[in-house]
Amino acid sequence: MILNTELEYKGNLFPSKIVKYEKNLNVLSFTSENGVILEVTIRRDSVLRFRYTTTGIFENDFSYAITKYASRGYNHLEVTENEKQYIITTAKLICHVSKLDLRTSIFDAKDKSLLCEDELGFHWEESYEHGGDVVKMSKIAQPGESYYGLGDKPVDNNLKGKRFENWVTDSYAYGRGTDPIYKAIPFYTGLHSKRSYGIFFDNTFRSFFDFCSERRNITSFWAHGGEMNYYFIYGPEMSEVVANYTDLTGKPHEMPALWTLGYHQCKWSYYPESNVKEITKKFRDLKIPCDAIYLDIDYMEGFRCFTWNKQYFPDPKRMVKELADDGFKTIVIIDPGIKIDMDYSIFKEGLEKNYFCKRADGPYMKGKVWPGECYFPDFTNPEVRDWWSNLFQELVEEIGVKGVWNDMNEPAVMDVPGKSFPDDVRHNYDGNFSSHRKAHNIYGMQMARATYQGLKKFSYPKRPFVITRAAYSGTQRYTSSWTGDNIATWDHLTIANIQAQRMCMSGFSFIGSDIGGFAEQPNGELYARWIQLGIFHPFCRTHSSGDHGDQEPWAFGENITNVVRKFIELRYQLLPYLYTAFWRYVGEGVPILKSLVLFDQADLHTHYRNDEFIFGEKILACPITGPNQKGRRMYFPIGKWYNFWDKTVVEGGQESWVDADLDSMPIFIKEGAIIPKYPIQQYVGEKEITEVSLDVYYKNGKEDSELYEDANDGYDYTKGRYSLLKFNLVGSENKLIIRIHKTGKYITPYEMFNINLFGLPFEVDSIKVDNEEVDLKDLSFNNNSLVVTKEFTNLQIMGK
Ligand code: GLC
Repeated sequence: MILNTELEYKGNLFPSKIVKYEKNLNVLSFTSENGVILEVTIRRDSVLRFRYTTTGIFENDFSYAITKYASRGYNHLEVTENEKQYIITTAKLICHVSKLDLRTSIFDAKDKSLLCEDELGFHWEESYEHGGDVVKMSKIAQPGESYYGLGDKPVDNNLKGKRFENWVTDSYAYGRGTDPIYKAIPFYTGLHSKRSYGIFFDNTFRSFFDFCSERRNITSFWAHGGEMNYYFIYGPEMSEVVANYTDLTGKPHEMPALWTLGYHQCKWSYYPESNVKEITKKFRDLKIPCDAIYLDIDYMEGFRCFTWNKQYFPDPKRMVKELADDGFKTIVIIDPGIKIDMDYSIFKEGLEKNYFCKRADGPYMKGKVWPGECYFPDFTNPEVRDWWSNLFQELVEEIGVKGVWNDMNEPAVMDVPGKSFPDDVRHNYDGNFSSHRKAHNIYGMQMARATYQGLKKFSYPKRPFVITRAAYSGTQRYTSSWTGDNIATWDHLTIANIQAQRMCMSGFSFIGSDIGGFAEQPNGELYARWIQLGIFHPFCRTHSSGDHGDQEPWAFGENITNVVRKFIELRYQLLPYLYTAFWRYVGEGVPILKSLVLFDQADLHTHYRNDEFIFGEKILACPITGPNQKGRRMYFPIGKWYNFWDKTVVEGGQESWVDADLDSMPIFIKEGAIIPKYPIQQYVGEKEITEVSLDVYYKNGKEDSELYEDANDGYDYTKGRYSLLKFNLVGSENKLIIRIHKTGKYITPYEMFNINLFGLPFEVDSIKVDNEEVDLKDLSFNNNSLVVTKEFTNLQIMGK
């Protein structure tokens, strides 16, 4: 394996001096004497693309990651030169390209401060055997620089000092530091001098990132083939970097249906039908909210995708309907391996149509997965994706399945070296024919995409729901995801927390972990603590391998059941708040979970924090990560925070102890926030929402909050039928004013808001609604709570 990035390495080749410069609109190309071309594309004022060829000819410009919807256009572009370099200036960035060797340095256009600079810059090794180059880039780490991102890496938030590999891998029972695991997201953000930028290395070959591990002050990345092709994305705020990266690789194509944000129950496996019913009934009997129930591989006939085991599930359509009548959406697993069986119609069809992957010399790619020996559809072929998408008609349209869970799509192959396809397997790669070396990291993504196409087609006019295990950059456009086969240990709870934050920082917010752990069995305490964390993850599902015992909310005795119920209920109350965070994510690429460093990068204390995170915009949460704890120390970001439970106020910018017995966890609300809440429901849509609470946390100063709502499913919201309320809170010593500005055409079903005022420093004397004083009795004013029409635009609470 070629890992060396050192200058001394004798195989390294370098560009020589520039002999030609050309500008074609926003594409600048610099040709060196030895035939290297650097093409710099100005995508936006803050987004530059750098692409190098060593042969004088670029490959066909094709990417699965970059979306056609990405924003383009810039306000300013100027190219000048001096003796030593070309100088590219946009409204946000200045980039120097050295005439000597194509090395680049990038500066903030405003104050000219250095953001990122090449060390060796672009260099490469020829790779005769594979017919390409190992392409490399090295940069100088700036003083105090930290690094974040890279998808699902199970290590501390800050990546500095470590080396990583991107090669999508089935990783049963992975642990802290296992690398690589299920996802390949070659995007990181660098942070120094209070400024953040991102680098997205859009290369699907096996790639590596080294953050000052091999050499103390050098950050490098390289890939075993393809082009050196990366995007530089400037902030200076990390949240802007992530939003811009998400804009480039795509936001989810639609809002998730609200029910998908409810609680999901899964196990390998619930069968037969009577067992499924027993589980769902228990949820309703015990009044633990739940929206989705999963069928793992045993629902199929001999693990053949798109079939049913008729002994276990004699009438799936009836069962799915009965579950639906009780508020449960049925979600089924679909894997890529298609059993070799001439009596199995899907296999036969795939074979006849030539849709399965083949080895370089002609035979089919044969590999063992759950059904035994299988062939695998080439999802990189658009025709195959189309075919695959149509296979969902019966499941979705006929039977009524509401979501599909794609697993083993790394692709995982059992009992072989590398646990996947060998390198020589051929792929269509959307007409850019390739070997598996290039297609491996996007195989799972293309499967999830094809599944998404099917779900979208057959669920319409409802919104599709897909879950995938494997992913490459851009997969967030189609699907949600989970962190794979973790273990029921305390350390894994910590890892799950960081992985979810990291995925959000990597543009992929619809993420969760197997709550309680997949392998082995948690005790009640661990399960309860994990549920507490899980209700703050965008995707909230308990899943377990099942062979170690039960893992339902009631499996650990009444005490634990009560804790679990309490937290799942909180999740359901916070649904409008979470939905609003999703709306920001889907609309603007704003990550749903914010690591503290992303929340406040200027505060150096945040740069190495792992456990605390911001959920949405206003809620600070921090899980308890060990046994027998009655609380913990945690860091509070600068500002004032209300304890969610007792409303006491903590001054941020420091670590403090927080009490948290097993039925509690550290949850804090940013002062000035207005948090919307729905009544508890057993599932989304159980009740018509007739009342919405607004919890108002007083602040001496200003704070904005918002509430997004729509029909909770369907596409009317894209035609303006949504309701967006922007709250503007202004508090002073003896007054609190809330203004609401409404946009959108959706009429919410409720009439009134229940407003709960917390932390008022004064006793309420009078209240004006839209500038008219209203008798406190008419507002049912009691204990700082009041009921007011949702149509108000201005509420003034006056002190004595
Ligand atoms: C894989 C999945 C797991 C699933 C199992 C059986 O291990 O990661 O979630 O339950 O396969 O399908």
